[in-house]
Amino acid sequence: MSVTSKSGLAESLQAAIEGYRNRNPKSAAMLDRARAVMPGGNTRTSLWSDPFPLCIESAEGCRIRDVDGHEYIDFLGEFTAGIFGHTSPVLAEAVAQAHADGFGLSSHTPYEVAFAERIVERFPSMDRLRFANSGTEANMMAVMAAKLTTGRGKIAVFDGAYHGGFLSFGHGSSPVNAPFDYLLLPFNDAAAASTAFAAEGSEIAAVLVEPMQGAGGCRVADRAFLEVLRNLTQTHGAILIFDEVQTARMSYGGAQSIFGVIPDMTTIGKFFGGGMAFGAFGGRADIMDRFDPARPGALPHAGTFNNNRLTMAAGLAAIDTYLTADKLTALYQTGEDLQAAIKDIFKRTGAPFKITGMGSIMNIHAEGTTPEEALTRQKLLRFRLLEDGYFIADRGLIAVSQAIEEKHIEGFLQSLEKVAATCP
Ligand SMILES: Cc1ncc(COP(=O)(O)O)c(C=O)c1O
Repeated sequence: MSVTSKSGLAESLQAAIEGYRNRNPKSAAMLDRARAVMPGGNTRTSLWSDPFPLCIESAEGCRIRDVDGHEYIDFLGEFTAGIFGHTSPVLAEAVAQAHADGFGLSSHTPYEVAFAERIVERFPSMDRLRFANSGTEANMMAVMAAKLTTGRGKIAVFDGAYHGGFLSFGHGSSPVNAPFDYLLLPFNDAAAASTAFAAEGSEIAAVLVEPMQGAGGCRVADRAFLEVLRNLTQTHGAILIFDEVQTARMSYGGAQSIFGVIPDMTTIGKFFGGGMAFGAFGGRADIMDRFDPARPGALPHAGTFNNNRLTMAAGLAAIDTYLTADKLTALYQTGEDLQAAIKDIFKRTGAPFKITGMGSIMNIHAEGTTPEEALTRQKLLRFRLLEDGYFIADRGLIAVSQAIEEKHIEGFLQSLEKVAATCP
């Protein structure tokens, strides 16, 4: 099929949506049922996609299966959290063991000590850490630690950043953001950051930045930009926080080790929980030790599930089995090779798409003469990939998991080359 005009593109999308509706009646029915008890049938905004999201029933390795019985190769990997694929005897055994030995113990456990030791050892920026329940929570606590350590109020963040549901700057500041005093700066713009610090440096408590903006379209920070942020924060007595919730997978020591820029604090989440809800924030001893409860005036940091034994056990097993230096380096290379192959397809075929990213996390971006045209093309590409049995985010995000094998990548590239040609 060849579509050349803008209206042709819109018609193709409508036809693709119709086909999707026809193929997925049970997913549609499940959403209808869910609507009665959850607004829009949804409890996680990022999972919404028009006309309705697929309802996934089961999975194995890198394959997911929806309630209508279709199988997909999962190139989304739970928006980067699913680095292990969807089933793991190792993680299952770790959780089962922790379960069998008893959970909810109302006290400290050996698991959390071993787990914390393993994480602190990896990140040059972490002398100590504390566990939380999500990346959002970890970022909130890091920001609070910075505010209370510096005695200042302003938090510098970047346009397009996503640090969690209450710290989201995709289209300006989200209406449900935590009520901090934000200084919203352009990403990768060292001059703008320097100007902001020259004007307001004495009021800035922290700079919170992703080494690669994940939800913001896989925009990779320039090393020089991160170096400028490092120098500015040091000079002005502010705290530099790297949100490595996504990018920690780039190497054993995260993206900070690759860039060679070491922040004062780092936040992590997602895959470090071995498939369980997880977050952690850590950093310089002088900042983190303010949370030492034996100290007079210690900062509180509560949370029933902060040291949830099941999470600690799963995380520990994940670190020792999957998040090793060798495996992360291999996954990074697989991702870089995939990005190069995708770039080559778009170049060879002239398909109006581009790809950005770092290692195993990347984003396909449709181009267009207007934002609407680009969006239509982006959606069409995704529906076409779904028809071929490949699952990516409708915004174009791809996160390669360790369960993806060479044969899956070959199949995906063949499909992409074919379908990109039907979205001109
Ligand atoms: C860079 C980044 N920071 C923070 C978060 C929030 O983590 P969570 O969803 O665990 O709250 C995310 C989630 O996608 C993220 O990508």
